[in-house]
Amino acid sequence: MPEWLKDAIFYEIYPQSFKDSNSDGIGDFEGIISKLDYISKLGCNAIWMNPCFESPFSDAGYDVADYYKAAPRYGTNDDLKRLFDEAHKRGIHVLLDLVPGHTSIKHPWFKESMKPEKNEYSDRYIWTDSIWTGFEGINNISGSLRGISDRDGSCASNFFSTQPALNYGFAVRDKDWMLAPDAPPCVANKEEMKNVMRFWMNMGCDGFRVDMAHAMIKNDPDDSATIEFWKEFRAFMDEEFPDKVMLSEWGEPDKSLAGGFHMDFLLHFGPSHYLDLFRVEEPFFSRRGKGDAAAFAANYMLNYNKTNGRGLMCIPSGNHDMSRIAHRLDNEELKLAFAFLLTMPGAPFIYYGDEIGMKYLEGITSKEGGFHRTGARTPMQWDKSTNAGFSCAPSELLYIMLDPDKNRPTVEAQMNDTNSLWHTVRELIEVRKNNKELCNEASIEFLYAKTNEYPLVYLRGDRKSGVLVALNPSGKDVSCEIDISEGDVLLYNIGGKAALKRGKLTVPKESASIIRVK
Ligand code: NOJ
Repeated sequence: MPEWLKDAIFYEIYPQSFKDSNSDGIGDFEGIISKLDYISKLGCNAIWMNPCFESPFSDAGYDVADYYKAAPRYGTNDDLKRLFDEAHKRGIHVLLDLVPGHTSIKHPWFKESMKPEKNEYSDRYIWTDSIWTGFEGINNISGSLRGISDRDGSCASNFFSTQPALNYGFAVRDKDWMLAPDAPPCVANKEEMKNVMRFWMNMGCDGFRVDMAHAMIKNDPDDSATIEFWKEFRAFMDEEFPDKVMLSEWGEPDKSLAGGFHMDFLLHFGPSHYLDLFRVEEPFFSRRGKGDAAAFAANYMLNYNKTNGRGLMCIPSGNHDMSRIAHRLDNEELKLAFAFLLTMPGAPFIYYGDEIGMKYLEGITSKEGGFHRTGARTPMQWDKSTNAGFSCAPSELLYIMLDPDKNRPTVEAQMNDTNSLWHTVRELIEVRKNNKELCNEASIEFLYAKTNEYPLVYLRGDRKSGVLVALNPSGKDVSCEIDISEGDVLLYNIGGKAALKRGKLTVPKESASIIRVK
């Protein structure tokens, strides 16, 4: 694993909504460049940016029309290169979002593929041999595009019907039109995707978050062919770009890390219990104290034991596909949620705006294929100037409406208030960076995680010189027995301080303590 990844703390930027520098109502590269110092000040040293390539934006850019060209609304390729350079000057690494599984229907390859005459691109997408045959029951295919051209056949889609699936082959094949992963059109797609990666890595990007990484090979019941597929990419990266990384959207770390990804997420889908802590009716981090962390801990350890040493399992604060972490938690509760997120193994990922508790706007009009996700993609709230400092455009031009609440949180107000969520996040990042037991690869052991009980207690690092984290978001003081007898130095706390005496740990209500143990 590249050295830099061992203490990387990521900030996810949805470029549309971060900072608009040219007053067209949409964020852009220049805007991001102007906020790199902000990201550094928060303590983050890596960025994952959502897709920023030429696209008709039927799915916010996850429908690429040209893999080699930045979307003009964000700037030029040169501007993007400057973003990499400016980030690097500040010690920040930048991951782009690679969408290898599908293109836009507007991609020139797809336009060729739609033609009834056989050509180089005919089999670069997945087509049945008759318009009357579809893909029902085939895993990793979401639907089909039918009757869209004179070509006789249905074309597989990966997500929306504007996202035709590139053909990387089928693991199990029972029809003539199902190609093997080593068939020439599938190999050509794979090689082209490596070229796309080379192009941006040579320009300075530090790797990729890979969209729908689990879904490349179709009819692959145990994912073994998809794992093999990615191993080849990892070998190519190791050989040509050993300091760059791949992060998967997969949600099954044992599989993705076996496929060579350096990191995977625990997500709101796949076999993870990530949502149990924040986005359920009774979140563990609510002061009502009716949540449960035990199922999460058990599931986490299951995955952890299967993946330990192979790469990182990352828990994001949120992302552009789910409601915001602040949806069901207030700022004081969020401080404890961040105490958890920033003391867990794996690289932390902070979704832009979560560090100030930006709200999820329920029921707002969908934009560019966002639908229910749109409410988590609203413009960043920088200050109290026009459009919260996001853009000088007339407000009706804004990409997505701003949170209309007159008390909406802003970066400026929270940076000026040392008791704010922003400062807590910054301080927690500092504690993480200053204690090697809290770094991305250091081990974890849950010491107390009982069904429907508080606190949640875990140890990072080893028992002789570890760091203990005690979290009690509930409104009641609690205590528990753990098999570590004494605490030593309190490294950080939110709310009251936990005390450890002869194995008895007392944790005040609504508190988090990070303690060095001996
Ligand atoms: C996952 C991305 O995160 C999401 O935003 C997108 O709509 C789908 N993949 C399809 O590419």
